[in-house]
Amino acid sequence: MAPKLAISALLLLLVIIQALFVKSEPQISKSLQLLEGARKGYTFEGLNQVKQYLKAFGYYSINGSSHTDSFDDVLESALKSYQQYYRLKVTGRINSNTLKKISTPRCGVQDVFNDSDDDVKFSMIANYSFFNGMPRWNKRQLTYMFRSSAFVISDQKFRPITTSALNKWAAVSNFAFREANPSDIVMGFHRRSHGDNFPFDGPGNVLAHAFAPRDGRLHYDADENWSTSNAIRQNQIDLESVAIHEIGHILGLGHSEDPNAIMYAYFSPGTIKRNLGRDDIDGIRALYSN
Ligand SMILES: *[C@@H]1O[C@H](CO)[C@@H](O)[C@H](O)[C@H]1NC(C)=O
Ligand SMILES: *[C@@H]1O[C@H](CO)[C@@H](O)[C@H](O)[C@H]1NC(C)=O
Ligand SMILES: *[C@@H]1O[C@H](CO)[C@@H](O)[C@H](O)[C@H]1NC(C)=O
Ligand SMILES: *[C@@H]1O[C@H](CO)[C@@H](O)[C@H](O)[C@H]1NC(C)=O
Ligand SMILES: [Zn+2]
Ligand SMILES: [Zn+2]
Repeated sequence: MAPKLAISALLLLLVIIQALFVKSEPQISKSLQLLEGARKGYTFEGLNQVKQYLKAFGYYSINGSSHTDSFDDVLESALKSYQQYYRLKVTGRINSNTLKKISTPRCGVQDVFNDSDDDVKFSMIANYSFFNGMPRWNKRQLTYMFRSSAFVISDQKFRPITTSALNKWAAVSNFAFREANPSDIVMGFHRRSHGDNFPFDGPGNVLAHAFAPRDGRLHYDADENWSTSNAIRQNQIDLESVAIHEIGHILGLGHSEDPNAIMYAYFSPGTIKRNLGRDDIDGIRALYSN
């Protein structure tokens, strides 16, 4: 009896240790893993996936041919900008750290927009960013409502999480939020293609996206394993953390290069990140000063 119990306990411990390991290592899809070491001048099967990924987030320029598997100059320069943005070693090659980053779940909003004169000025001095042309709300009292095309959680569960996320921004700005119908902001869960030219991709990778002011649409990918409690499991995505980030977009913030900022594009499953960083606060205040 006793040895059996000890063996069970040992097995349980091993399972826990394994679980801890899995947590720290983002899942890299098998096909992507084969691209490790890829560099300019060669052709690699499946490389177009990386081009399309970099294109979706604003790195791979329209001049490149994103549907071929050849490693061209455009891809090399796109990889360098991506590596620089995410503070990876800037090699212009597909190394393991770059693949690891690419395999981590993230927000669907692009990181870099066309360089217009105002954007360049800001990106030189700060980690935070704005959308092209710095679109803003022209009022500070905003209304919101829930409208989903896929069921994930009830509005009763959705409401307190949303309120808490909105309050984080209200606390550091002049914004106030109130539920109403019709509303300025419409948030909800959607699956795959959902009518806005930015289809979701099933479990993993893109978790959510939102549009710049004064659009107000905020969409969560219904296929993620969303967590709505404080007791998050290792493979789950904390809804409130993502909500705070997406509301940042709704208000006009782009992505931040600061990993501590809420507006950083990547999210680790199994973690909770519900506090605005210094950079987020600086960003919203810079956008709405005067
Ligand atoms: C695309 O190519 C044109 C002509 O070669 C060049 O003028 C332009 O700067 C390029 N654009 C980008 C975004 O690389
Ligand atoms: C870049 O700017 C051009 C012209 O203003 C626009 O047509 C294009 O959609 C923009 N691209 C992105 C990624 O914003
Ligand atoms: C940008 O973020 C980095 C890393 O968090 C930080 O060390 C740096 O001071 C930030 N830069 C500015 C201008 O806030
Ligand atoms: C979500 O994660 C929980 C906890 O790990 C797990 O029990 C559940 O099966 C997952 N649900 C889906 C749809 O993957
Ligand atoms: Zn985002
Ligand atoms: Zn959408």
